[in-house]
Amino acid sequence: MSVQKHISRMTAPGITARKGGEPIVCLTAYDAPTAAIIDEYCDLILVGDSVGMVVHGLNSTVGVTLEMMILHGQAVMRGSNKALVVVDLPFGSYEDSVESAFKSASKVMMETGCQAIKIETGSYAAATISYLTERGIPVMSHVGLRPQSVNVLGGYRARGHDQKAAAEILANAKAAAEAGSFAIVVEGVNTKLADEVTKAVNVPTIGIGASSNCDGQILVTPDMLGLFERTPKFVKKYEDLKGVTERAVKTYAEEVKSRVFPSKEYTYKFK
Ligand code: KIV
Repeated sequence: MSVQKHISRMTAPGITARKGGEPIVCLTAYDAPTAAIIDEYCDLILVGDSVGMVVHGLNSTVGVTLEMMILHGQAVMRGSNKALVVVDLPFGSYEDSVESAFKSASKVMMETGCQAIKIETGSYAAATISYLTERGIPVMSHVGLRPQSVNVLGGYRARGHDQKAAAEILANAKAAAEAGSFAIVVEGVNTKLADEVTKAVNVPTIGIGASSNCDGQILVTPDMLGLFERTPKFVKKYEDLKGVTERAVKTYAEEVKSRVFPSKEYTYKFK
C-alpha cells in the first residue's frame, strides 16, 4: 500500500496522443511558486537547462550541472501536481554513451520524481532515445537550434537556412520520432521547415520560434513575463515583470528612507 498522496498528472503517452489535436501548452519553470502558478494552465512543464541563463546568470547552458537540474526539478515537482514535468539533461551528462545517458536520466527521475527527460538531439541520438525509452524513461527530443551546441554554432541564430541544413534537421526529427521520442521540441527554424517536421513525424512537435502549426508551443517563462530587456525575436512579452519589479523596489526604497514603511499596520503592538 502506498502512503503517498495520489496525484494524477498528465503523462508522456497523454502528450503523444495529442498529435494533431488540441494545441499542447508548455512553459518552463525552475522553482516551486512559479510551477504552482503555471500548473493550472500547462499540459507540460519543462525544467529547462535555460535555468543556467535565466536564474543563475550564466552566459550559456554549457555550465549547467546535473545537480542543478535535480535541485530545480525537485522544486518544480513540489509546486505542481497536474502537468507532466520534464527535466533537461544538461550538457556533458548524456552524449558520450547510452550507458551514461541512462545513468544521468535515471538519477534525475529517481531524485526528482519527474516523469520524463529532454535531450538535444543530433544525428547520434537515436540510439540513446531507444535505449532510454526501452528502459522506462520517456524522452522528449530537441531539434533545430540546440543551445548546448552554441560553441559549435557560433551563436543563437535560427537554424536550417540552406537546403542541406534544413534536410539535416528534418532527418534528426524523423530519427528521433522513430527511435521512440514521445514529443519533439523544434526551436529556431523557419515556419516552412517547422511545418515539414510537424507533418513528417507521428509525435507532437512543440515549437519555440518555429510555427503556429506545431502541435504545441513552449516559451521560457521569465522571457514571456518580460523579466529581461533583451529577448529573442520569437518571444512575445505577455507582461512587464522587469518594470513591475523596478517600480515596486523603487517605492520600497523611498518608503524605507522616508520611514513611511513599516507603518503601524505592518508592525506588532503587544498589549
Ligand atoms: O532549456 C530550455 O528552456 C529549453 C526550451 C527553450 C525548450 O530547452
